[in-house]
Amino acid sequence: MLICASFRKTMASSFAVCRLHMRGRASLAKCLQKTDAFLHRSIGTDVVVAQAEATRSDESDEKNGRKSLHTLHVERQEQAERSVLISCQTSTNEKKFLKYLTKHGEINKYFFYESYGVYAVVEFANQESVASLLEGVAIPGGSHESAVPFKSRLLSLRNLGSVDSSNQLSGWQCQPQTTIPINELIKRLSREESIKKQISSLTEAYQLTEENSRLRFLVCSLLKDIATAYFPECTIKPFGSSVNGFGKLGCDLDMLLDLDSISGRNVKLPKSGLSLEYQMKRANSERAVTQSILSVIGKCVDQFGPGCVGVQKILNARCPLVRFAHQPSGFQCDLTANNRVAMKSTELLYLYGELDPRVRSLVFTVRCWARAHGVTSSIPGAWITNFSLTVMVLFFLQKRSPPIIPTLDHLRDLAGPADKSVIEGNDCTFVSDFNKIQLQSNTETLEQLLGEFFEFYATFPFSRMSLNIRKGKEQNKPEVAPLHIQNPFETSLNVSKNVNASQLDRFVALCQESAWLLQQSETSTPRGSGVGDEGAPTPWGLATLLLPSQVAGIKSRKKRRREPASERIKGLLESLKNKNQLKKS
Ligand code: CTP
Ligand code: MG
Repeated sequence: MLICASFRKTMASSFAVCRLHMRGRASLAKCLQKTDAFLHRSIGTDVVVAQAEATRSDESDEKNGRKSLHTLHVERQEQAERSVLISCQTSTNEKKFLKYLTKHGEINKYFFYESYGVYAVVEFANQESVASLLEGVAIPGGSHESAVPFKSRLLSLRNLGSVDSSNQLSGWQCQPQTTIPINELIKRLSREESIKKQISSLTEAYQLTEENSRLRFLVCSLLKDIATAYFPECTIKPFGSSVNGFGKLGCDLDMLLDLDSISGRNVKLPKSGLSLEYQMKRANSERAVTQSILSVIGKCVDQFGPGCVGVQKILNARCPLVRFAHQPSGFQCDLTANNRVAMKSTELLYLYGELDPRVRSLVFTVRCWARAHGVTSSIPGAWITNFSLTVMVLFFLQKRSPPIIPTLDHLRDLAGPADKSVIEGNDCTFVSDFNKIQLQSNTETLEQLLGEFFEFYATFPFSRMSLNIRKGKEQNKPEVAPLHIQNPFETSLNVSKNVNASQLDRFVALCQESAWLLQQSETSTPRGSGVGDEGAPTPWGLATLLLPSQVAGIKSRKKRRREPASERIKGLLESLKNKNQLKKS
């Protein structure tokens, strides 16, 4: 998928393009009041107080240039509501297109991307403009098949007049919206002059862009329009890597159908006198309710959702979900309901990522390294997941001396009354006000941390110990599992329950190899002007760590015992040296 960098100056007078804080702080505060106390939801406490405190803490964080996830969600959801997604023809004239749209009102931002055709995301300044635009949209005709008359904000542009070849969409400069191939990345990193620069270059190349993030919220908003047919007050919110700050371009879109505004906010009954309550159908359990809601919404998405294909209802999973592909955006989507703990863990990961820039950089680097070696995969299986890997990085950063990030217990101790959150009996309370968190002064560089990360896990006693970010300490494993990482909120669960022994072995062997490679001057220093095949720079530092591994084929512990890791790594370095010598000669 490609996004066209389309912020042309031609229409700059009429469009305030690229304005991120579109309506200013006053309207944001108004918007915050209107919106549910998302993520600051307080079970058993006064929601109004929670909202007021959340707003205050958001204001002081914004002054420091840090936005809470709550604020981010509110802003993005509001932008998405004022946006439409239009499939365009490449012969479309950009100026005419914009002129046509501005008849309905001022445009705040627009951009184009490619995904099985060219699409435009157009964000109007006012919601009324969307309504005005939709009034003039025609129902498709002229096909043998009948259309399901479900109107949405996913539109197709038709050009009935003559084709103007000047200023066509196809001529625009496009930016990739999926990550660059690993070989490209290795080349790019090899040109950098320090490991620190390599890490920031990797983060830059992989992280979600502003446009991609907007598109994710727009897809949630389009799906919400389907779900509101049954539940008019519902919202659909992205969670997981789409919003936790660790998302890579092309990552899946995890969504939560939030019905809390209906079921979570009960009107207080008067002590005496008449009152009314809704008659509602009952099911055996909350899980059964979730399953039936997802089943119906899944069916609607399948049968009425424009652009939604390959819908699968996976309702018997621990966390029931509807999985589908949203073709116009290119996102693989997972829609869940009643999954509030996952939303809390998203908020926690986001908070950790905001505390210190090294957190995000290290997580991106380790995630990319893991993917390059097949430690993680997009297919579910016995692999370590990105979520587990992120928790491993957080645990490692808590174990530094002094720690780079605080423990979850410490974050809970700093929480105010508005932060209190208990979900299904699990204590999910932790502080949301960044200003209350005092960090210790750890000055380790990213280069040191990367090497230390690999050493830490190359020698971690996985067979006996469990990782616990609540305490920031390893603890005896409560149950048999090759890798045990305590779920931060549902503490009786192991987030890496799926991982088998051979996958853990590969991870450990790769950590040993990478730690060793970073200690070698041959691989840990820039290779100057050394140029390999077809003019490519000679890989060094982080780039070397992303090259195919010599130990990746390891199948079992037995095999590893027969051949000590250090010997294999020595062999690997020899082969690297030989390769380089061959290239130079
Ligand atoms: N989650 C959780 N417990 C798990 C697995 C997932 O709480 N055992 C939550 C986490 O908040 C996670 C989110 O669900 O971020 C989405 O899960 P998943 O898509 O597997 O992970 P992501 O973090 O989104 O990473 P990826 O980019 O691989 O999708
Ligand atoms: Mg995900």
